[in-house]
Amino acid sequence: MVRHFLKDDDITSAEQAEIIRRAIELKKSPYSAIPFEGPKTVALIFDKTSTRTRVSFAVGVADLGGVPLIIDSQSSQMGGKESVADTARVLDRQVAAIVWRTYAHSGLEEMAANSSVPVINSLSDDYHPCQLLADLLTIQEHKGRLAGLKVAYVGDAANNMANSYLIACAMAGIHVSMASPSKYSPNQEVVERAMSIAEATGGSVSLHQDPSAAAAHADVVVTDTWISMGQEAEKAKRIQEFAGFTVDADLMAKAKPDAIFLHCLPAYRGYEVSAEVLDGPQSVIWDEAENRLHAQKALMAWLAEQR
Ligand code: CP
Ligand code: NVA
Repeated sequence: MVRHFLKDDDITSAEQAEIIRRAIELKKSPYSAIPFEGPKTVALIFDKTSTRTRVSFAVGVADLGGVPLIIDSQSSQMGGKESVADTARVLDRQVAAIVWRTYAHSGLEEMAANSSVPVINSLSDDYHPCQLLADLLTIQEHKGRLAGLKVAYVGDAANNMANSYLIACAMAGIHVSMASPSKYSPNQEVVERAMSIAEATGGSVSLHQDPSAAAAHADVVVTDTWISMGQEAEKAKRIQEFAGFTVDADLMAKAKPDAIFLHCLPAYRGYEVSAEVLDGPQSVIWDEAENRLHAQKALMAWLAEQR
């Protein structure tokens, strides 16, 4: 049966650990796996803008022996003219995998339901699971482990990154602690799913409205933009509503002295994070951005074997 990766828990905790282990291996030996030898083609579809995801998937597919085909959905028949299901039926006869960055998560579910090749979510309004594989890889590299660590996520807890943090960290046995204005609290269904996963892995979930409470004694502090793609019209309102939630040096001082700072990028200095923290010694954002490549290569190699 073909496997898809649309959300963090489309794989088990053990499979997540296996993919991270393979990412470490592939980082050491970048050309040691060639599942797309042929070369086979992988479709990379973008409905939203991207720098890291576009580059890391294109480079990753090439490293794995394949050819990346970048499709800008605005210049394709997808969307208004042709359904997602029909697009899937055309693509899966010719490509080895479909990677799609889109708005509504339901589109990815429709693509997967109609595709005989793996479909990978490279960001939807609800989840950014490839980012979390890279973030967990980065944490593992800097802290030497995942289970038992405390990760504090401060800012917009109602977005795709927050959902993926809750689920992926719970799967890894991490204690994830979130702080947001109450209006931007995490989705209740996602919190319940994360809590139930954490029961089995030894992790936990705690929710706060005080950033200091979330960051206290954390091993890792994370944030994301307050204005996600598609929310640009709400920019002025959101900047007001998130006042007090900037990750700055005072907030980092509440975490452990050796805490690291992560941000999926792009970052907006002075809003969700101060320049001092983003560009400071605790920040590991460039490792994190590079790790998109290694984590996604491991994911694609692993998915190619699940048939
Ligand atoms: N973090 C991330 O997904 O970056 P891009 O939007 O540049 O792909
Ligand atoms: N939450 C952000 C993540 C960008 C990588 C967005 O969806 O725009």
